[in-house]
Amino acid sequence: PAEPDLAGRHVVISAGGTREPLDPVRYLGNRSSGKQGYALARTAVARGARVTLVEANTGLPDPAGADVLRAGTAVQLREAVLKAAGDADVVVMAAAVADFRPAAYATGKIKKKDGQEPAPVALVRNPDILAEVAGERARPGQLVVGFAAETDDVLANGRAKLRRKGCDLLVVNEVGERKTFGSEENEAVVLGADGSETPVPYGPKEALADVVWDLVTARLG
Ligand code: C5P
Repeated sequence: PAEPDLAGRHVVISAGGTREPLDPVRYLGNRSSGKQGYALARTAVARGARVTLVEANTGLPDPAGADVLRAGTAVQLREAVLKAAGDADVVVMAAAVADFRPAAYATGKIKKKDGQEPAPVALVRNPDILAEVAGERARPGQLVVGFAAETDDVLANGRAKLRRKGCDLLVVNEVGERKTFGSEENEAVVLGADGSETPVPYGPKEALADVVWDLVTARLG
């Protein structure tokens, strides 16, 4: 059994991917499975934390011992995360949040019309939940952890993102063939606002989750 080094702590974890509806049957979505977020939830429960998991469209069974809240869209995810973050010691944003959503929602199914070009889809920006949580810090000393999936210049882009978002730790994944999306394994570098850089070799998502909690507990007051 794991050391209960998160006992007495409330951690909030978002997992999965948001879906932004166009009409009652279509949405804009992404390929996040939610598995990394669930691994974070399971390992945090094992280390003694009170865990609130805000899940978006994962279809995964609830992890034992965690409170699970459901969100479909980025706006709903923001609401649930901000509410849960009020008394949280740690907020981990592992969910893939859509940067944009359709500007309009059609209440009836959008139809194709013979001989007509499809209408362009206008998008508007979604709120950046991670930047908001990190900027506001609902509690003094609250730690905020973000994730970033990058395809090139992984470390430089990760450093810039860490600063831009204002979080304490940023887990940077290189998006590749056998890792990250939908897979049971992951490989990442965890960047710290203090300049630290912790490489995590290819392995189970639980192993990466435990490294995140190690870095978090070292930084909790
Ligand atoms: O900017 P980018 O989407 O690459 O940042 C990824 C990180 O920011 C993830 O932790 C994700 O959960 C969070 N995010 C967010 N709100 C958004 C977009 C991303 O909280 N609208």
